Parts: sequence; structure tokens; C-alpha cells
Amino acid sequence: MESLTISGNSKQEKYASLLPQMEAVIDSSVDIIANMANMAAMLHETFGFWWTGFYRVIGNELILGPFQGPLACTRIAYGRGVCGTAWKERRTIVVPDVEQFPGHIACSSASRSEIVVPVFQNGEVIAVLDIDSDRLATFDETDSAYLEKAVTFL
Ligand code: SME
Repeated sequence: MESLTISGNSKQEKYASLLPQMEAVIDSSVDIIANMANMAAMLHETFGFWWTGFYRVIGNELILGPFQGPLACTRIAYGRGVCGTAWKERRTIVVPDVEQFPGHIACSSASRSEIVVPVFQNGEVIAVLDIDSDRLATFDETDSAYLEKAVTFL
């Protein structure tokens, strides 16, 4: 396995350089946990986020999956927090300031902004990709667009 080669300085350039490498690494014929683990690692290494990982839908809740960063809450109920809301509403949620999001679940007090992207399989949300930043307003439509594309590789 070769290491990542990321070119460009802007967020857009970094995503544009990362995504083809990600698509090449993700192998949908292997267990999704393995692919989630590599996807979290690639995003975390490229952007230096505070926390990058997945929660999987298991039964009626989200359960912590592969991630990079500090330890995190293991269970999130449907409709709770940013993750549970993205699952319920079946859409990406960008939170510029977590203190302004009612019901935000603070796994880490260092987290200041967040993006959660649902992962669909056969029309169902099977997981969410959750990324936290220790700075305000880290995420925007560029992140949404590229991350929504990235999770289709799983
Ligand atoms: N902040 C999330 C919980 C998960 S952690 O950020 C890793 C939420 O409100 O759903």
C-alpha cells in the first residue's frame, strides 16, 4: 500500500487530489468496517481534523464504528445529536458552531464545529460519517459535496 500524495493547498484541491486515491483504496468487496477504517484514516491524515469516524446503524441506534481521534461516545439514539439528526433527516448537516446546535452531543469539549454525512445503501441510512473540528466554521458546501461523493465508495 502506497502512502497518500496530496497536492494543492486549498480544501478543494486537497479533496480533488484525495478522492481518486480513496476510490482506488476502497474495495467494496471487503467488509465495510475495513473500508470505513481506511476512509477515516485518509480524511484524518489529509486534513488534520480533530475527530473523523463512523457511527453504524445497529438496531434502533447508532453505534461507534472505525474512527481516528480521541475516544468517543459509543451509542447515539435516533434523532439525537447531530449524528442522530442526520440519520433521521437523511441529509448532510453542517454545524458551524456546535454550541448553537440544540441537542449537540459533546463527546469532546474541544470540538467546535462538525459535519455529519449519511451513508446510504439501497436507499437506507446504514451509517453516518462524522467529522469534528477544534475550530469554528471549518465545514461548508465543498466538504459536503466531496464527502457525500466519498461515502458512495463504501
Ligand atoms: N457530536 C456528535 C456526537 C459524536 S462525536 O462528535 C464523535 C453529535 O452531536 O451527534
